[in-house]
Amino acid sequence: MPLVPMRQILDEAAKGGYGVPAFNVNNMEQIQAILAGAEEVSSPVIVQASRGALQYSQLNYLRHLMLAATELHPDIPIAMHLDHGNSPETCKQAIELGFTSVMMDGSLKEDGKTIADYDYNVRVTREVVEMAHERGVTVEGELGALGGIEDGHGAGLSADDTTHLTDPDEAEQFVADTGVDALAVAIGTSHGAYKSMRKDPKTGEMLPPALAMERIHEIYRRMPKVHLVMHGSSSVPKELVDEINAYGGNMEHTYGVPVQQIQEGIEHGVRKVNVDTDNRLAMTAAIRRVLHEKPAEFDPRKYLGPARDAMKKVVVDRLTSFGAKGHAKDYAPMTLEDMKARYTRS
Ligand code: G3H
Ligand code: 13P
Ligand code: ZN
Repeated sequence: MPLVPMRQILDEAAKGGYGVPAFNVNNMEQIQAILAGAEEVSSPVIVQASRGALQYSQLNYLRHLMLAATELHPDIPIAMHLDHGNSPETCKQAIELGFTSVMMDGSLKEDGKTIADYDYNVRVTREVVEMAHERGVTVEGELGALGGIEDGHGAGLSADDTTHLTDPDEAEQFVADTGVDALAVAIGTSHGAYKSMRKDPKTGEMLPPALAMERIHEIYRRMPKVHLVMHGSSSVPKELVDEINAYGGNMEHTYGVPVQQIQEGIEHGVRKVNVDTDNRLAMTAAIRRVLHEKPAEFDPRKYLGPARDAMKKVVVDRLTSFGAKGHAKDYAPMTLEDMKARYTRS
């Protein structure tokens, strides 16, 4: 199956009442793990690349790996999405490479660090919507700002900062002003493994991040047709952190976003759920384990293979718990041309 517009995957997820994970990729093993997982549970899937990933893979490697994925998995609807595009120019580059979806993250300025104002966000997002929809490409926008910094991207807000959460009034206005297909909301999640600095005042133990789920409820109540996106949605499983530490790692005890909260979001309009950190943890734990158990090993396939298997497990788990399992063959794939015609009509 050729790559499909992400809008189709999200529309179908809305019809079926499930969420679709968007997994980040940088290399071949990650793409293989995602597709092997999607194939195993017959799910549609969103594969996404950050600007860092595009740089790391020199663009063309990633593009051809994606083409290989479509050739090898003809029954799986796959959308190729740009994660956190920092400018209309970056989005244009991704569209020219063949991405079927882009995120214009105008919540931050082009430097990917400075918090932008509403007018800037609307201006750049609107520009991308016009350019992308002309080509049938889906657009995700973001309103509000997430915590944390990943690979230089992020405002560096403390994981527990609540001053930049998405305002439901503004969200309604933003969707009307820009025409985005999907809206990333800031509800207290943040990128990376350390999502909360909250501690139990009595025991001093770390606590999971406090999420403003009521904002999702309210945004969904007002705009039930808008596809919501949760970023920073890794669950940071304790067993993966423990495995990393058992084999020479040094990670602090931490909490991610509980899967039950993501499921609650899915019941209230969340259709795309971004997961990167959990896959990074799974791969790292597997690599550490192999190198610890077989210190004489030097064939990369001997540790990258297990890393790929470990990531596939996370992929299968998330596809299943977000409800995407079994939905790959629900629909015939749309082309970008089909989607372009739909945008032109509306
Ligand atoms: O946006 C956050 C993702 O985890 C991508 O991270 O920019 O390090 O590739 P990255
Ligand atoms: P995590 O760091 O929680 O996996 O979030 C990834 C993400 O939101 C990518 O855009
Ligand atoms: Zn993100």
